[in-house]
Amino acid sequence: MTAVSAPSTGEATAEDPGTQARRRRTFAVISHPDAGKSTLTEALALHAEVISAAGAVHGKGGRKGVTSDWMDMERERGISVTSAVLQFAYRDQVINLLDTPGHGDFSEDTYRVLAAVDAAVMLLDAAKGLEPQTLKLFDVCRDRGVPVLTFVNKWDRPGREPLELVDEVEQTIGLRPMPITWPVGIAGDLRGLVERADGTMHRFTRAAHGASKATSEVLDADRAAAEEGPDWERATEELALLDEIGAGFDSPEALAAFQAGTATPVMFGSALSNIGVARLLDALVELAPPPGPRPDQKGEPRPIEAPFSGLVFKVQASMDRSHRDRVAFVRICSGRFERGMVLTHDATGRPFATKYAQAMFGRDRSTIEEAFPGDIVGLVNATALRPGDTLWADEPVTFPTIPSFAPEHFAVCRVADMSKTKQFRKGIEQLDSEGVIQVLSSDLRGDQAPVLAAVGPLQFEVVSARLADEFGAPVKLDRLDYQLARATDAAGAEALKGAVGIEVLTRRLDGQMLALFPHKWRLQAVAQNNPDLLLAPLVADTL
Ligand code: G4P
Repeated sequence: MTAVSAPSTGEATAEDPGTQARRRRTFAVISHPDAGKSTLTEALALHAEVISAAGAVHGKGGRKGVTSDWMDMERERGISVTSAVLQFAYRDQVINLLDTPGHGDFSEDTYRVLAAVDAAVMLLDAAKGLEPQTLKLFDVCRDRGVPVLTFVNKWDRPGREPLELVDEVEQTIGLRPMPITWPVGIAGDLRGLVERADGTMHRFTRAAHGASKATSEVLDADRAAAEEGPDWERATEELALLDEIGAGFDSPEALAAFQAGTATPVMFGSALSNIGVARLLDALVELAPPPGPRPDQKGEPRPIEAPFSGLVFKVQASMDRSHRDRVAFVRICSGRFERGMVLTHDATGRPFATKYAQAMFGRDRSTIEEAFPGDIVGLVNATALRPGDTLWADEPVTFPTIPSFAPEHFAVCRVADMSKTKQFRKGIEQLDSEGVIQVLSSDLRGDQAPVLAAVGPLQFEVVSARLADEFGAPVKLDRLDYQLARATDAAGAEALKGAVGIEVLTRRLDGQMLALFPHKWRLQAVAQNNPDLLLAPLVADTL
């Protein structure tokens, strides 16, 4: 897919951040692996004029991806480690679609991406319903107050009953489902979708493997009844049932409930056959909130029209083997961004020049001249920037930082060849500041053998691969027997000194002390015997 430059709006208000923000929809797709996230992303792009494509949106099984994988490991394992950003125009809106890593081991990364969006699409496989990873990601959305739209995918093949699926959403996650379309024909024999607001049926002619847009014709209820017989009857009966329980999406209260994160609009379709995908885009444009004022650390909202401010939500190095540089992904929260402007890096108070601002990451980069709230800007050579950092112009602001997750896997990391110690240290420092893994240390262990703490074991593979590949420092990893961590303080560290099977280490990035335990029983016993000891849960534990 070739990228084109951003369409110029040309209006008098073109540079007004408020007007531009209202045209933006910034969202991510959350799903269990294999529910069809990559396929949906490609299908969405088919309906839209792609402005820029960034990072890794994956094509699998020989299908051409929107953009290509950048890391061998991703290709081999069919997983997405890096996040991508795809920007496209739809109707008169600009849509920013942020990709999330597909695998649960990278939930921490997903959490960061979800800190940068205004809405999420929860993608369900019609045959499987709510799967574990979807539930976990949904919890993150709830935690962050991100409104969720639900898209039930793969309706072109056998699956579950639609009523059963919406019931599962309500029972399992407590979100009130409000279907805005409803399938005519069972999963595996989809005839079309009823548009609930006006009762018309959109009948589809399938598009082969997402290669082109599915065509549809609109039938009024009488014609649909005459031509679709029992399938139509069944759909209308199901809809009548939904009407009775008031699960409609036609009131200001319903919209408010969705935006407050207590209800979810539900749509059905097939990403592969390109069915229901344009409807999803319409729903995003009509229902999902545009960028709004973002609360700062003290809870005070930064108005959209205020001078520039942005949140670094991801730092990614060497996305391209020919450019070994480091890109910080910044979500614009207020004001207008103009390339070349000098910002302040809030964490250090130092100026940050934005000469190298990119609209596209990965292999096809292009310089970005301006951007608005909701947009994502890639800042190149951003060595000082870390996920969670704030950048601002003119009027200072500090956004709440993005918390680290509770690690559950631990390993000691040593360089395999001592002559590469310098490269090893540099690599560890870099991966730590990118947030690829948490690096823990103690005086006892020393700098040569830091402990790596991961949310999922695949993170270790990423670290090993990158240290060998990018830094020329292959490593040996020895797994440790700890399974959980609690935040503690100096008094806690002192009290736990010498305790069998427990170790206190310091997280390098923020100096937080972590007490590591082999299992929850040991933790419980210690907590019971020492009620005054600080042993605070970390983020994932509290979700
Ligand atoms: P992910 O990013 O969420 O992991 O999922 P991905 O899009 O890779 O899709 C996973 C599998 O599900 C793919 O099949 C894809 O073709 C299929 N799929 C996605 N959407 C639909 C749909 O609407 N209907 C049907 N029937 N299948 C769908 P695969 O066999 O793993 O890959 P491929 O060889 O088909 O590319």
